[in-house]
Amino acid sequence: MSDHSLPVLDFGSQTAQLIVRRLRELGVYSELLPHDASETQVRALNPLGIILSGGPASVYAEGAPQMPAWLVNADLPVLGICYGMQLISLALGGVVQRPDQREYGPASITLHAAHPLFDATPDAQLVWMSHGDRIEALPSGFQSLAANPATPFAAIGDDARRWYGVQFHPEVVHTEYGRTILGNFSFHICGATATWRPAEFVAEAIERVRTRVGAEGRVICALSGGVDSAVAALIIHRAIGERLTCVFVDNGLLRLGEAEQVVATFREHFQVPLVAVNAREEFLSALEGVTDPERKRKIIGEKFIRIFEREARTLGDAKFLAQGTLYPDVIESSAPDRKKGVTIKTHHNVGGLPPDMAMELVEPLRYMFKDEVRAAGLELGLPAEWVWRHPFPGPGLAVRIIGPVSHERIETLRRADAIFMEELRNAQLYRATQQAFAVLLPVQSVGVMGDGRTYADTIALRAVTTDDYMTADWARLPYDLLARISSRIVNEVAGVNRVVYDLSSKPPATIEWE
Ligand code: XMP
Repeated sequence: MSDHSLPVLDFGSQTAQLIVRRLRELGVYSELLPHDASETQVRALNPLGIILSGGPASVYAEGAPQMPAWLVNADLPVLGICYGMQLISLALGGVVQRPDQREYGPASITLHAAHPLFDATPDAQLVWMSHGDRIEALPSGFQSLAANPATPFAAIGDDARRWYGVQFHPEVVHTEYGRTILGNFSFHICGATATWRPAEFVAEAIERVRTRVGAEGRVICALSGGVDSAVAALIIHRAIGERLTCVFVDNGLLRLGEAEQVVATFREHFQVPLVAVNAREEFLSALEGVTDPERKRKIIGEKFIRIFEREARTLGDAKFLAQGTLYPDVIESSAPDRKKGVTIKTHHNVGGLPPDMAMELVEPLRYMFKDEVRAAGLELGLPAEWVWRHPFPGPGLAVRIIGPVSHERIETLRRADAIFMEELRNAQLYRATQQAFAVLLPVQSVGVMGDGRTYADTIALRAVTTDDYMTADWARLPYDLLARISSRIVNEVAGVNRVVYDLSSKPPATIEWE
């Protein structure tokens, strides 16, 4: 870990973890801690300052989380964001009220004078507001730094105390100079240095695995073909060498060449002990005739667990099971203030813990965001193509074949998908989209090829841009590229005579079709 940090206290805002990400992107180590974390817990991270996140509550609501009392005399700089700013104000004697109108969305603010918090930003700037309450009177010692007609105290500060507050959200991209403002707080006000790099996670994670597993312990790690389980496995392998065994279950639902690449990369290139299980027929027969997406997921998830357990038993005495849990999952599962939504799809990840398996968990990625896992992968020598591969659902091609799954349909989809990916890469647009894939529809239509009539399958192409996979937009791929892909698929994949492009955003659609 870095020798200093800027922890963020989580008051429940949806964007709290974005603050942590932005700080890390700036080279400043940060973690998201519960708002009621103890002073000892916070001090363990060697903080140079503290950020209080936004939150959904009103500071006056019953049971609303309050500012930790120890902070008042902690002699640390503080930046309160939205709810965090109202808490500061309330705790130090200001007045917070609920105005008639909420302010939500883009707004322009004007600075009163130059200030280190707004260094290298213009006098008038666009910010993203999202608040109900607002400050009506400042605590003593504070002055207003910026305002707009709806919000007289859009930014406030007490330079003697080094406490600041902003009513807007600097962590979201819609705040034009948000990144600069967070940097100003970190570097000018807290005195942090931009010295932290994601690669530092590697050494640290290796050390943590060694401590957890001890000198004798053995670990089993399920490989899925995705970047998370691959990086987790490589970290553990660096930590304990041959005491790691990877298990790769080939369910026959992977993309073209993927299963072969897992074996070649891990067994041959990295020399990681690897058990590769060919379970293609087993999965296919379990899926026979199944059309309901959730049933497909359930069958695949359960089958995976059963096969994995079977293999784990043959490996004998491994006490530990590796899991590629990422930091956002850790944050979500420890954030009681955030409500869980309805289930649209059950997303069980391959590599998930069989619920009744009596093994201890090793989670080498539990402090990393996805982009940091990628940086760690590159650091560990994972091929760039693997590191940057789009996410792939655990149930694989089964949820991209609408309707029943069969050998022939898997082969059709696999070949169409490979053409799509190849062309996207050749056009240098693979990384400009966050997820792209082909879907095989249960729709036959009439076509004409040569002099004959065809009645054949339809492939849908899906490509999206997204930050977090919670919302997404369809990618504006060039027409020429789409034309080339369409023509290649129809010419090279037998049984397909029509290609369509999906123009739906999420919401109301989802990224996958099932
Ligand atoms: P949706 O389709 O819900 O997808 O917009 C959001 C992201 O989740 C992936 N996804 C899954 N991942 N098991 C997984 O491991 C699943 O069952 C599953 N379903 C969707 C999807 O590929 C996208 O990245």
